[in-house]
Formats: sequence, structure tokens, C-alpha cells
Amino acid sequence: MAAYEYETHTFDAIVVGAGGSGLRATLGLAEQGLKTACISKVFPTRSHTVAAQGGIAASLSNMGPDHWQWHMYDTVKGSDWLGDTDAMEYLAREAPKAVYELEHYGVPFSRTEEGKIYQRPFGGHTTEFGEGPPVQRTCAAADRTGHAILHTLYGQSLKEKAEFYIEYFATDLIMSEDGVCQGVMAWKLDDGTLHLFSAKTTVLATGGYGRAYFSATSAHTCTGDGGGMVARQGLPLQDMEFVQFHPTGIYGAGCLITEGARGEGGYLTNSEGERFMERYAPTYKDLASRDVVSRCMTMEIREGRGVGPKKDHIHLNLNHLPPETLDLRLPGITESARIFAGVDLTKEPIPVQPTVHYNMGGIPTNYWGEVLNPTEENPDAIVPGLMAVGEAGCASVHGANRLGSNSLIDLVVFGRAAAIKAGEVVDRNSANPTPNKASVEYALDRFDKVRHADGGTPTAELRAEMQNAMQADAAVFRTDKTLAEGVETMTEVAAKLDDLHVTDRSLIWNTDLMESLELTNLMPNALATIVSAEARKESRGAHAHEDYPERDDTNWRKHSLAKVTGNKTDLYYRPVHMDPLTTEGEGGIDMSKIAPKKRVY
Ligand code: FUM
Repeated sequence: MAAYEYETHTFDAIVVGAGGSGLRATLGLAEQGLKTACISKVFPTRSHTVAAQGGIAASLSNMGPDHWQWHMYDTVKGSDWLGDTDAMEYLAREAPKAVYELEHYGVPFSRTEEGKIYQRPFGGHTTEFGEGPPVQRTCAAADRTGHAILHTLYGQSLKEKAEFYIEYFATDLIMSEDGVCQGVMAWKLDDGTLHLFSAKTTVLATGGYGRAYFSATSAHTCTGDGGGMVARQGLPLQDMEFVQFHPTGIYGAGCLITEGARGEGGYLTNSEGERFMERYAPTYKDLASRDVVSRCMTMEIREGRGVGPKKDHIHLNLNHLPPETLDLRLPGITESARIFAGVDLTKEPIPVQPTVHYNMGGIPTNYWGEVLNPTEENPDAIVPGLMAVGEAGCASVHGANRLGSNSLIDLVVFGRAAAIKAGEVVDRNSANPTPNKASVEYALDRFDKVRHADGGTPTAELRAEMQNAMQADAAVFRTDKTLAEGVETMTEVAAKLDDLHVTDRSLIWNTDLMESLELTNLMPNALATIVSAEARKESRGAHAHEDYPERDDTNWRKHSLAKVTGNKTDLYYRPVHMDPLTTEGEGGIDMSKIAPKKRVY
């Protein structure tokens, strides 16, 4: 065993990650009197949720008629019928309560004239089960909604005496011999010490893995750390082929321009100045769901109607909006456009292109956030002591495509749900079990192996190879050929982890080691993505397969599961949950309303 000393900390519950879902779980756990720690590799208010702009979906009906069942319908349709029905019902039903809780915690939402929470339209959110006009369902704090939520939840968690371990990087799960999660090993970045966090429940809230791609709206910290830790325990990742491209990343820079911009009246044009979305989505136009808009933009560019010298991007027009609207509702993107595109929004359009934004796939869970290890006998088998929430998890509420503003609501609804469930299952009076020695040794040995990696491939070089392969071969449009090439390349790239070269072997503020450990997490996420995509012979949501352009519910309405060991990926599948939580008689949705049909906007 590698010779490292470590300090042991004992908690009822630990949460790894301090973004929206991690903080909401932390707060919910601490409020119930559970001894709770939140471990984060960055200062909590710098977590990636801080970058969330446009808002959080909930059927509050502040701006016109709305209903949780309409929200559920839109989510089911948005997911292209791959989401789990129980989870989608839970999300839509609980959303208003979760938003009012945020309001009461102190989130400074924008307001209507009457003082109600302001709501704006977002893509794919409609009325009357998709038969009516777009709905204003997305609750906003200007275009800095994530920022507002994160700061509020951090303050509330401190008030409830949750303990924060800031700039600690969780390296591996500690698992008992019989597969119960017992906590994590973590590395304290500023002094190089190691820490064993023993817990009765461990909640992974580590975010997505956008940085497996070259160009992403995600922060550089979005390295799929939870997915990596789970994969190393022989547990599967779910629906990884579904990667969302946001239509409006700033051309070149990749920074997000919120969909709220189109919600407030912005529209896209091609090189002919044509509002082309009217051709593709006659009803909802620029407010079609984002996988649809990203594909249409890509088609315009492919057909030679892109803008700019290389005809490789599209214009987003906001200069017709009153300057007061830009000031009041979109101040953040006004600044981003100026800084990152050199554009004055009141005068010129913003150059935009579809950019990797969100991972629908992740660690499989039920709607309480309990991690699943599906087997043929029991597709809903849980991993005791382990939960996952937010973008790290896959409940599966977004299925094959997430609607804009359903992410922030996912964070708070399922962060809260995980806390409620943990409050029920954690025995506050029992002692924490002694951490499994073999698992602790594995974590320390792996840390030491990466620290002393002495091969021929520097981390930055291997990361670039992975990002370029993913960007080229797991893109907006996919074919058998690009996916097969992607699997071949990624299998070779992943094998090179054995040839990694880490130059800095120190333990204090060692960004070389940190990025190398992150790369060991990104890699299984990337591999699972490309292998699951290659296997899925249909088009569904964000997975647009040109050789199989139609959705195939008979053969493919099922969740992909990928177990990654080294550079080898084994796939299997589990059924989609078709049953709702409540029947129509109990006040639930009329199931005929959400029966599969062609997805048009
Ligand atoms: O466009 C946006 O503001 C992003 C929202 C989201 O991804 O939910």
C-alpha cells in the first residue's frame, strides 16, 4: 500500500459537490439535524451552477395559465419518450413547491408589476399539452438565475451548520466488500493532506462532463468526477450517448448566451438574413426544443447558409429589443457579448454556434436519487449508501433531450428529494462502519500511481486527443462511420492513460496532478458516450443518427448502461419506467396525453 497518512472525518451524510443540487441536498440534510459535510473542489459559489443564466422551470402560472401536467407533457415530449415517467411526474409536480422554497430562502427573483416571480418563455415549454401557445414558465433572476440560487443555498446551508470542506478533491469512493458505499477519500489541495470521509450516505453532486469535448459552455471543472468514481467501482453509467448542444454558444469562445434571449424575443438568422426556424418549426419557431434548433442551425451551415467568412456560424438578433429589456432582463449576456464577441447587442447580432452544454446521461438513479446497479433480475436494484443528483445523476428525467430551464429545477427538486430519502434511511444512532481497508488501499494506491505516472504522454496532450475525438465523432449529427471511427480512436486514447506523464509530483496546489486525476474521470465518461452512441441504431432527442433518422420505439425505447473498465466498455440495457406516480383517478395525468407520437414543434 502507498504510504500516505490520512485524517478520518465521520458524518451521517456527505455531499460531494457544491453546485445547485449539492447545496440543496446539503441544506436539506442539515435541516433535518443530520451531521452533514459538503466537500467541494472549488469554492461553493464558484461551482458551475453559477453560470446558469435563463431560469428555472415551474408551472407557477404567474404570467398566464399553466399546469404541472402541461409541464410534465413538455418534459416527456422533450425527452423524446426516453425519460422515466415517475421521475418526470415528480419533477413537474414538485417544481412549484421547490421554487417557492427558494423564494422563501431568499433567492432574489425578478418580479412582475404585482410583485410575483417573473417568468419567461423557453424552448419546448407550451400550454394545453403542446396544442396551445408557448408558456411563460421559466422563473428568472434576470439572466443570472444560477448565481442567485447558489449564493442563497450556500448561505442557508451555513446557517444550518453544514460543514464545508472547500478545495478538497474527492478521488475515489470507499466501498464495503458487499458493495455498500462508506464514503470517499479526498485530497486537500492547499496543504496536500489526505482525508477519509466516512458516511452513512454519500451524495454525488459532481456535475457533468462537458470538458470531454473541445468546445463546451461548461466550466473547466466539469470533469465527470462522480461518473469516474462510479465507473471505477464496476458500476454502470446510463444514457451517455445523449449529449446536449446548446444552440447559442458564442462563436469561438463557447460561452453561453441564454435561451432566455430568444424567450425575450431574440431570433436566429442565416447568411440570407432569413429567420430560418420558421421553416423547420412553424409553430414554436426559435422556441422549439434545443436539440431541434441546434440541428436546424447545423443544417443551415452545412447547406452553405452560415454567416461569417467561413460561413460556419449563425446570427442571434437582439438589436430590435428595447434597451430597457436588455438592461433589465439580459444584463449578463449583454456583457458577455461585448467581452467575448466584441458585439454591442443594441446594434449588432451575436455570432453563435451549437456548443456542448449538458449531459442527459450520468449515474443511474431512481427519483429519490438512490444510485442503481441494474441487473436482469432487478433493473431497479440500488447501491446502498450511495446517491447521485444533478447533472452527475440520471434520474432519468431528461431522457434523450433536456428542455432549457429543466436543469435548475432538476437540481433543486432532486437535491431536496435525496435529502428527504436520506433522512428516512440513515440511522442517526448507529456508529459508522469501519471503512473497508482494501477499498482505502485502492484509493491511496491509485492516487499514488497517478502522482508518479512516468509515461510518455503529458496530460494536456492526452486530454486534447480525447476532446478532439469527441468533438469530431460524437457531434450534433452522427453516422455509423463517424461513430465507429470514434469508438476506435477513443479506445486507443483511453489506453494511453497507462502511458500518462505527470511532471509535478508535489502535493500542494499541484494542478498537474489535479488535471491528471480529472482526466482519469473524464475518460470513462467519454468512452461510455461514444460506445453507447455507436450501439444505438436510431435517432432520438440529442442522438441524431443520419443512417437511422427515425426514432425506433420497438427496439430502442430503453436505457443504455455502460460499464467501463480501462479502455473496454460493456453495454447492457434497462427498461424505461412507463408508470406514473399517480393514476388519473388519483389526480394524475391522463396517460393517453403522453403516449408516444412524432415529435414536432
Ligand atoms: O439558455 C440557458 O439559459 C440555459 C438554461 C439551461 O440549460 O437550462
